[in-house]
Amino acid sequence: MVKINENYGQLQGSYLFSTIAKKVSEYTDAHPEKKIIRLGIGDVTRPLTGSVISSLHKAVDEMADEATFRGYAPDLGYDFLRHAICENDYRARGCRIDEDEIFVSDGAKPDSGNIQEIFANDNKIAVCDPVYPVYVDSNVMSGRCGQYDKETGRYRNVLYMDCTPENGFVPSIPKESADIIYLCFPNNPTGATVKKDELQKWVDHANENGSVIIYDAAYEAYIKDADIPHSIYECSGARECAIELHSFSKNAGFTGLRLGYAVVPKDIVRSGVSLRDLWARRHATKYNGAPYIVQRAGEAVYSAEGKKEIQGLIDYYMDNAAYIREGLKKAGYTVFGGENSPYIWLATPDNMTSWEFFDHLLHSANVVGTPGVGFGSCGEGFFRLTAFGSHENTREAVDRICSM
Ligand SMILES: Cc1ncc(COP(=O)(O)O)c(C=O)c1O
Repeated sequence: MVKINENYGQLQGSYLFSTIAKKVSEYTDAHPEKKIIRLGIGDVTRPLTGSVISSLHKAVDEMADEATFRGYAPDLGYDFLRHAICENDYRARGCRIDEDEIFVSDGAKPDSGNIQEIFANDNKIAVCDPVYPVYVDSNVMSGRCGQYDKETGRYRNVLYMDCTPENGFVPSIPKESADIIYLCFPNNPTGATVKKDELQKWVDHANENGSVIIYDAAYEAYIKDADIPHSIYECSGARECAIELHSFSKNAGFTGLRLGYAVVPKDIVRSGVSLRDLWARRHATKYNGAPYIVQRAGEAVYSAEGKKEIQGLIDYYMDNAAYIREGLKKAGYTVFGGENSPYIWLATPDNMTSWEFFDHLLHSANVVGTPGVGFGSCGEGFFRLTAFGSHENTREAVDRICSM
């Protein structure tokens, strides 16, 4: 008789988005005439840009010609894309990353969920609270997190690092050391960023303890301020302790196309084994590569025209972020994020819980956001709005919130 992976029994129902959907559909059934505006989603709304589209078309035509048809992609990804990534995301920033340390994938979500496989099950993980849920859930599936405690809303064997207004939503280095430390800046959901000298402390801490940092840089393209690092490899010693994850979803709108990459430097060696070689083995065994046409589309993101267009997308969303941020501030809300990030994190007014504010916003302004508590217990009393909507909807939503 087959036995199932009992660790899955420890997963908590992902009731956040299903509860949101249920509440919204109940409301729209009762009020079909109301126009609901969704500022809760982390998905983009602008279409792919011209150079990405023409690159896709060209690659599709190549696939129709025997002379240029491509089958399976190379294990690590095509050289043309890894070269473009290396030049633009690393060498241009003075970071030493080699092309054979870059692993092209179908996105940062799969990479952030899969990377834990190369570590032993008795490692302890540390995560921010609130947090992007994939880091914890993928470790729960491997049995690394222990029992779930309903009272605290936390797993017993996870080190949670509280992110609060007092620490600017950047956790302090924990006294207890963890083996695998997940960090994500600019952060989802809080929109917080970390300065280079603060990030350097994490790198030093990881190197002192033999820990590994999984650094999720999915939102790095939104950074405007010069003193905020785009990559953890801007810190010295990061090649010895940090794995970095990137996505083409939020900068170039590839949420439906699917493309990302992981960087695993050769210098991370634990128990005499190179993590880069472990990940290469895992990648070659379990993954058959992002499609050729999508990798060509990714290459176009780094062309001169592509860069201009991508900046246009980011400016578009950041314009929304500024409108939300400033509008809510004027209306008396306490607002965080939205300056180097597409996420706006606000403190709920009048001591409302996250869910009470959700209901209030839905009923009084017909606007949907995401209750902060859905990202962890420290998210209680906070609420996430995203800048990924259209200009028109964003303005209308903010104006409605402000006149509530
Ligand atoms: C922190 C973080 N990492 C990764 C992802 C997913 O990236 P991708 O679309 O490349 O899988 C998201 C998406 O919301 C995210 O918020």
